[in-house]
Amino acid sequence: MHVVETDVLIVGSGPAGAAAALALSTYGVPHIVVTRYSRLTRTPRAHITNQRTMEVLRDLGVEDEVLAKATPQNLMGNTTFCTSLAGEELGRIRSWGNDPLVQAAHDLASPTRMCDMPQHLMEPVLIDAALARGSNVRFSTVYKSFEQDEDGVTVTVEDRLRGDEYQIRAKYLIGADGGRSQVAEDAGLPMGGQMGVAGSINIVFDADLTKYTAHRPSTLYWVLAPGATVGGIGAGLVRCVSPWNEWLIVWGYDVSAGAPDLTEEYALSVVRQLVGDDDIPVTIKSSSAWTVNEMYAETYANGRVLCAGDAVHRHPPSNGLGSNTSIQDAYNLAWKLKLVLDGTATPKLLDTYDAERAPVGKQIVTRANKSIGETAPIFEALDGLSPQTPEQLWANIEARKDATEAAEKQRAALREAIAYKVYEFNAHGVDLNQRYTSDAIVPDGTPDPGFDRDRELYHQPSSRPGAKLPHAWITSGTRTVSTLDTVGRGRFTLLTGIGGEIWLRAAQAQPLDIATVVVGPGQQYEDPYGDWARLSEVSEAGALLVRPDGYVAFRHADAAGNAEQLLTDALRRILGHG
Ligand code: FDA
Repeated sequence: MHVVETDVLIVGSGPAGAAAALALSTYGVPHIVVTRYSRLTRTPRAHITNQRTMEVLRDLGVEDEVLAKATPQNLMGNTTFCTSLAGEELGRIRSWGNDPLVQAAHDLASPTRMCDMPQHLMEPVLIDAALARGSNVRFSTVYKSFEQDEDGVTVTVEDRLRGDEYQIRAKYLIGADGGRSQVAEDAGLPMGGQMGVAGSINIVFDADLTKYTAHRPSTLYWVLAPGATVGGIGAGLVRCVSPWNEWLIVWGYDVSAGAPDLTEEYALSVVRQLVGDDDIPVTIKSSSAWTVNEMYAETYANGRVLCAGDAVHRHPPSNGLGSNTSIQDAYNLAWKLKLVLDGTATPKLLDTYDAERAPVGKQIVTRANKSIGETAPIFEALDGLSPQTPEQLWANIEARKDATEAAEKQRAALREAIAYKVYEFNAHGVDLNQRYTSDAIVPDGTPDPGFDRDRELYHQPSSRPGAKLPHAWITSGTRTVSTLDTVGRGRFTLLTGIGGEIWLRAAQAQPLDIATVVVGPGQQYEDPYGDWARLSEVSEAGALLVRPDGYVAFRHADAAGNAEQLLTDALRRILGHG
C-alpha cells in the first residue's frame, strides 16, 4: 500500500484541526490534514469567540481578518428573553462584555475584543492562512484506523474520490475529529460523563427580522413558549448569524422519543412559533438534529496520539465555549510538538498537554451543562415548569402585570432569575482564568493567592507561573503595544526591566532562541501608564519567562546572582530534560 510520510497528521478541519494546522504551519512543522468532506462546514455552528481565542488568533496573525468578518461585540450584547420575537419581552441581560463594568474589565484584560464569528466563516480563515503557510490539506479523506510503535503512527485513510485506501506515516497524530471521534475511541481515551442528555434541533434560515432585533441588538434571543422546556438547551433560542437577516434556531425534542422528521414544513412551524410573525418571508436553509452531551476525556493522549477539541470535551453551546476551547487546545499543543520534533524538548513536554488541558475540558463541560439548568428559574418565576396548557403559561406571563403583591414578587423573581444568567453570558473569568499546573510550569514558591472575587465571573490577572501573561499597554517609540504582543510567535520570551541585565545574559546563554524584552525608561519598551509596574508582580530587576503560548513558565522576583543556573534549571524541567 502507498505510504505518505509527514511529521504530524491532523484528522479533522474543524476549529481544533484548523487551528492546529495554522499553528504548525506558522511554526514550520511539516504536517497533513485529512478531513472527511469535500469542503469546510457549511453551517454556522459555534460562534461566540472570546478574548483568549482572539489573543491566540492575534498571535497567529489572523485577528484582523476575523474581526472584519465577525459580528462586532457591540451588536452581541442584549440577550433577550421573550415569548417570541414579535411577542412580549420578559427582560434582557447585557452580555458578552457589553455591561459597562464588564466592558471595562474586558478593556483592561486584553488587547483584543470578543466577537461573534460563525464557524462557517472561521474555518476558512484558519485553513486559508494555514494553506498559505504550507499546510497540506486533503479533503474527502477519511481516517480509518491507526497503529503506533516507538517511532511513529501509521494511519490508514480512505480517499473518497478514488475509493481506495492508503497509509500516512506520521511521528504524531492529532485526533481533532469532533464529538464522535474515532481517533479518541481507537486510542482508548477514558471518558467521563454521558452522551445524549437531551435532544436539540438546529434550523438555519433567512428572514429579515430587523424590526424585532435592531433596537435591542443581540446574538441571542431566548423564547419561553409552550414546549420550550422539552430537551434542548434551556429554552427556545433564535440566534443571529448575520445581522439581521440570517438566523439559527435551537429547539429541543424529547430524546427518548427520538428526533422529529425534519421536513421543511416542520422547520417552518418552529420558525413561525419562535418568530411570532407569519407575515415575514422565511427561507429555510438547513435543519439538523444533535444531542446535548456532558462528556470529557480524563486523558487527552495515548503515546503518540493526541486528541483535541470536541474529541475530548463534548458539551452544549451554553457559554459559547466549544470552538474557543478547541482552538486553545490546539494552540497549547502545537508549540510543544514543534519543540519535540526539532529536538529542543523531549517527548515529556507532550505529557504537559494533557496535564494542562484536561482540567480545562472538564471545567467547561460542567459549566456549559450547569448553564442549561440555570435557565429553569426563569420559567419557575412564571410558574412555567409544571405540565400545563399553553393558555395557562400565557395567563401566568400576563399575571406579572397585576398590581398585586404576588405579581410584584413574580416580577422580582423574574428579574433575579434573568440576572443570574450572568454566569452564562458574561462569565469573563471562565474565559480567561485558566491556571496550568504541569512540568512545563516552574512554581516560584509563592503561596497561591486564590481569587479575590468569583473566579467564574471576574478575570484576575497574575504573573504567577501557570497564569497567562497579564496584558498591559506599553510603548516602543510612537507605537503602543500590548505586553502580549511582545511574546508568542513560537518563541520563549524573557521579560525584565532596568537592573535585569543578568537575566538577559542568562537568556542569551541558553541553547534555544529566547526573545528578550526590557521595559523601563530609555529601554526597548516603556511603561508610561505604569500599568506594567502594577501588573508584573516582580521587581524591575526580576524576570518572567513566558512560553510560546503566552503562559508564564518561570518567574523570579528580583535579580539573582545565579540567574543563569536558575534559568537553565527551569528550562531543563520545562523542556523535559530534568
Ligand atoms: P468539529 O466537529 O468542528 O470538527 C471535526 C472535524 O473532523 C470535521 O472537519 C469533520 O469532517 C472531521 N472528521 C470527523 N470524523 C472524521 C474522520 N473519520 N476522518 C476525517 N475527518 C473526520 N457550538 C456552539 O457553540 N453553538 C452552536 O450552535 C453549535 N452548533 C453545532 C451544530 C452542529 C450540527 C455540531 C456538530 C456542532 C455544533 N456546535 C455548536 C459545537 C461546535 O461546533 C464544536 O464545539 C466545535 O466545532 C468543535 O470543534 P472541533 O474541531 O473539535 O470539531
